[in-house]
Amino acid sequence: MALVTFTSPEYKDKTVYAVAGSHTTTILKLALENKIPINFQCEDGECGTCVVKVSSLETKERMGGPLTEKEKTVLKQIGKLTAAEIEQMIVDDLPSEWRLACQMIVRDEDIRVEY
Ligand code: FES
Repeated sequence: MALVTFTSPEYKDKTVYAVAGSHTTTILKLALENKIPINFQCEDGECGTCVVKVSSLETKERMGGPLTEKEKTVLKQIGKLTAAEIEQMIVDDLPSEWRLACQMIVRDEDIRVEY
């Protein structure tokens, strides 16, 4: 069980439980199930509308699994990551704080999602 806190300047923080380990629940799916008004369009990692900033509630480290190829491509296109930052991320084996909500799978860790 993971706790995911959604936070936005426009809405009150909302913390929800996520069943971890399903390997199918994305941040976007969890948000929609809990009526969190995250922006989205394609739901397929193509448009970049669902970009969010993810951090750990426990360790202050960046969390989540590695970025998908779609995330790398789109986050570069929309100016959230440079090619150099993507290279560094691979070297450090740390995911970027910027993620696509429709691509990032919820894991067994407590996170904060800024949208
Ligand atoms: S909704 Fe289009 S990239 Fe996530």
